[in-house]
Amino acid sequence: MQYRRIGTTDLRASCIAFGAWAIGGGPWWGPTDDDESIRAIHAALDAGINLIDTAPLYEHGKSEDLVGRAIRGRRDKVLLATKCGLWTRDARGSEWFVQGPHTVRISLRPDTIRLELEDSLRRLGTDRIDLYQTHWQAIEPDKTPIEDTMACLMDLRAQGKIRAIGVSNASPAQMDAYRSAGDLSACQPRYSMLDRAIEADVLPYCHRHGIAVLAYSPLEQGLLTGRIGMDRTFPADEFRNRIPWFQPANRARVLAMLDGWKDLCAAHACTLGQLVVAWTVAQPGLTIALCGARKAAHAVENAKAGGLALDAATLARMRADVEALGAPA
Ligand SMILES: NC(=O)c1ccc[n+]([C@@H]2O[C@H](COP(=O)([O-])OP(=O)(O)OC[C@H]3O[C@@H](n4cnc5c(N)ncnc54)[C@H](OP(=O)(O)O)[C@@H]3O)[C@@H](O)[C@H]2O)c1
Repeated sequence: MQYRRIGTTDLRASCIAFGAWAIGGGPWWGPTDDDESIRAIHAALDAGINLIDTAPLYEHGKSEDLVGRAIRGRRDKVLLATKCGLWTRDARGSEWFVQGPHTVRISLRPDTIRLELEDSLRRLGTDRIDLYQTHWQAIEPDKTPIEDTMACLMDLRAQGKIRAIGVSNASPAQMDAYRSAGDLSACQPRYSMLDRAIEADVLPYCHRHGIAVLAYSPLEQGLLTGRIGMDRTFPADEFRNRIPWFQPANRARVLAMLDGWKDLCAAHACTLGQLVVAWTVAQPGLTIALCGARKAAHAVENAKAGGLALDAATLARMRADVEALGAPA
């Protein structure tokens, strides 16, 4: 496993992290087995992963609760990343979407951040968050100025309740504003071989300014493991039905591309998923791949990609193939 610094902090995280969204289950991911989720976290830690990324919104505290249970007794060996800014408790913030009984609002107001942090600390069973990230950026009408949000985060850091500050789903302009008001150490955008939009702006920006990039959905929610075949279906409201690459015609093109990499897997003695994740963390400016898992076997397989070094010819061939694939229809 490779370990990499988060920005200019003294936090050294495994280049593969455990993404704890799916273990929440709920409307996004469907039913889950909590005992197996905890086994998955233990297996990830045993395989060298030391960073876990979660969020209060991941089934309204369930993911944080499970992470808290899983790390009991091993807190000091783990770096915990969680988030703030998606608020469901009252009408503060700006309405974003409605899911079942919950109205999800974006609120990066200092008063709601302070409340959210206390809840996260309690659920995670800890007195500090290693990396605290604003989950989505503020929108009108209740759009907190970034300077006010950052002043609050800097104060929480001074109190020792958080150790480093990150953003998620943020543009370079928004990161400029954060950097003017405090210390920004990390950015968490969506990035996979099939979704490389940030290569145009966020990735070079972060590279230039010493900001760690934590890529989310690097396996394109499992599609890039090659294990989601043409016959696999998902419950009607599951999130994956809405991802264009999962539509049959697009999925077939992805599976054909992956099939063409079998010789690379043989040469590197790895699985397709490991090949893809190793490619992802080899991209310039990319620091960490947040690989979601809710099965121990998946967590271990993903972790092993952190020890896989791909040669330049392999990296170039995979890029050429995925560029030739173009956009989803
Ligand atoms: N900041 C944000 O806005 C944001 C948004 C999305 C995600 N994230 C973070 O990024 C993390 C990862 O993203 P993600 O969960 O969306 O997508 P992902 O990591 O691309 O995919 C995770 C899913 O892929 C499947 N999978 C993983 N490893 C596998 C393996 N070795 N073999 C076969 N299938 C495998 C599993 O599906 P099954 O469990 O169904 O088998 C797993 O739940 C999240 O957990 C979260 O921490 C952040």
